[in-house]
Amino acid sequence: MTKAQLKKSYLEKVMESDPAATNRIAVRLTYAGYKALCSHITAHNLWEKGHKTLARIVANTSRRHTGVEIHPGAKIGKSVMIDHGAGVVIGETAEVGDNCILYQGVTLGGTGKDVGKRHPTLEDGVMVSAGAKVLGPLTIGAGSKIGAGSVVLKSVPPHSTVVGVPGRVVKQAGKRVADMDQVLLPDPIMEEFKRLNDRIYELEKNAGIRTCRYSITLDENNVSVNADECKKAD
Ligand SMILES: CC(C)(COP(=O)(O)OP(=O)(O)OC[C@H]1O[C@@H](n2cnc3c(N)ncnc32)[C@H](O)[C@@H]1OP(=O)(O)O)[C@@H](O)C(=O)NCCC(=O)NCCS
Repeated sequence: MTKAQLKKSYLEKVMESDPAATNRIAVRLTYAGYKALCSHITAHNLWEKGHKTLARIVANTSRRHTGVEIHPGAKIGKSVMIDHGAGVVIGETAEVGDNCILYQGVTLGGTGKDVGKRHPTLEDGVMVSAGAKVLGPLTIGAGSKIGAGSVVLKSVPPHSTVVGVPGRVVKQAGKRVADMDQVLLPDPIMEEFKRLNDRIYELEKNAGIRTCRYSITLDENNVSVNADECKKAD
């Protein structure tokens, strides 16, 4: 994608996503997030070519004008929007996929504990709401939404809604997590029965006595115990 195509994709994303954006000239001249993304194209090209100091100067000039700090090493896809812009910080090894939206006060930062890849990866179509902090070399799955003010410290599967501090998944693919099928949840009591039966089986076998392997199944809300594989131990 050329520089001009990338800039156009940023402009069209604003026109499509921000109801307040009514004309393209106004966006070009006044939208801090749009201007910061356009400057980042130049800064990132310089960074990739090894002109690190020049890249930093471009990024720093952009930060002073827009209030958006994007490290020149960060990889940003097409059709991304940074709305309002103020206080957005994107770290060196962060990756932002296509069609992502970041609101004001978002940090894609490091925890201070990692080296090398230490900033988040946002897959395509992720929305990070106002003031949210996404920290560490984690991945936010495609189409996920991070709620305002959340602090996300762990990777998130695609199409999730994450809220809170620390961030937790409250919805997946539009379905509230609390509404998920309770029948499929693990049953710790039945698991303990099974573990005890396995131990009894091993003890009987080692003692050389008649041994049975029992299995426990749940049947219409009643516990039923079925014996099978009953034989004399060798
Ligand atoms: C997270 C968000 C995107 C909503 O996503 P959603 O998938 O539609 O989720 P819902 O609105 O159904 O909310 C799911 C649950 O999370 C809670 N929740 C939503 N946003 C939350 C937040 N930021 N912090 C804490 N809890 C939140 C809701 O109350 C709801 O809880 P409940 O299930 O107990 O009722 C939205 O709430 C949000 O944070 N938007 C901010 C957008 C923004 O930054 N705008 C700035 C423009 S300037």
